[in-house]
Amino acid sequence: MKHDVKDIGLAPSGKDRIEWADDRMPVLRSIRDRFSKDKPLSGIRIGACLHVTTETANLMRALAAAGAEVALCASNPLSTQDDVASSLVADFHVPVFAIQGEDNDTYYQHIHNVLDFNPQITMDDGADLVSTLHSARDDVLEHVFGGTEETTTGVIRLRSMEKEGVLKYPIVAVNDAETKHLFDNRYGTGQSTIDGILRATNVLLAGSIVVVAGYGWCGRGVAMRARGMGSHVIVLEVNPVKALEAAMDGFTLMPVAEAAEIGDVFITLTGNIAVLRKEHFEKMKDGAIVANSGHFNVELDIESLEEIAAKKKTVREHVVQYLLPNGRRINVLGEGRLINLAAAEGHPASVMDMSFSNQAFACEYLVSQHASLKNEVVRLPERIDHEIAALKLATMDYRIDSLTDQQERYLASWKHGT
Ligand code: ADE
Repeated sequence: MKHDVKDIGLAPSGKDRIEWADDRMPVLRSIRDRFSKDKPLSGIRIGACLHVTTETANLMRALAAAGAEVALCASNPLSTQDDVASSLVADFHVPVFAIQGEDNDTYYQHIHNVLDFNPQITMDDGADLVSTLHSARDDVLEHVFGGTEETTTGVIRLRSMEKEGVLKYPIVAVNDAETKHLFDNRYGTGQSTIDGILRATNVLLAGSIVVVAGYGWCGRGVAMRARGMGSHVIVLEVNPVKALEAAMDGFTLMPVAEAAEIGDVFITLTGNIAVLRKEHFEKMKDGAIVANSGHFNVELDIESLEEIAAKKKTVREHVVQYLLPNGRRINVLGEGRLINLAAAEGHPASVMDMSFSNQAFACEYLVSQHASLKNEVVRLPERIDHEIAALKLATMDYRIDSLTDQQERYLASWKHGT
């Protein structure tokens, strides 16, 4: 079996950690049990480009149990857990092409390695697999009947492909499921971003000024958790409705140029480019910490920092310190790559349980429905969201009410008024 991992000898530790995550993914496990009986993906080739983590390993197990043939590469050069990659190869017989810290050329070589499997379904986190396939590998297109996309940034890219009329097959926006973005983006990113910053720096958040750029679901989660740690949180936002929401949630709002002068820790989660730039770095306090938790490493304009810095050195693992001509030091975490995966382990398994249950359902949905779908970005039916939420609640030992017949009738009728 072809593969490219760092060291196959790391497999035993990877297997233990995959099983640890599995214990915290009961919904996905129940899907895996059903999949192993029903084999809904029998013989289907799936090419996946995801963060290679313990949680992803459990998704690969579920797909394989359903009868699929899967091949996996990383969706970010820094997010691979090498022991997990090795265990997937050695223990679960999944071809993996991913090495933590791989350079850009190797990263794309690995995407091509997965495309060489001629996938029928593409599974992406950020749309690098789909964009490579569309721009450089149209030999693979004839096999593909559908795809899935995990993250907000990927969905935005795919919608722009759809708008330009270049998207060649239907893609399920897993991100748009409520049981994905309301939980993974908010509680997953909220916790794991703080986790990454603390593992990288060990700074005290209580009493510090944390600047959160972007108040989408990820930004909301980080702002909420930073406040929970005792930080004073400033939110930067360009959308007036979201900004208003941040204000009413009790956060301080201001433009980036003002926040740059007072923040201790800066975290970008906008999905946009060059959010923190030269003119902001120049104003920052000595010792400021700058991290990105958006999908791509474009939110911090590190090139401009490189240009103006007199010196730079690695002061801790994941921390590069830039000395500016004004004598101040700026600490950039994880090369500006998403900090929750670069310096920590990404979202906890119990939240990925729901995200990856959506991925598993999305593959099953594509197999049965692809012929009726257009070459568009589509959502999963609401009933799947409800099924995943109900399963999750049951595993958490919560029980909820259902509507009475009278209530059902009331909601269905327009005749009742004042
Ligand atoms: N994205 C964020 N956290 C993740 C995780 N733990 N596994 C896979 N993808 C992720």
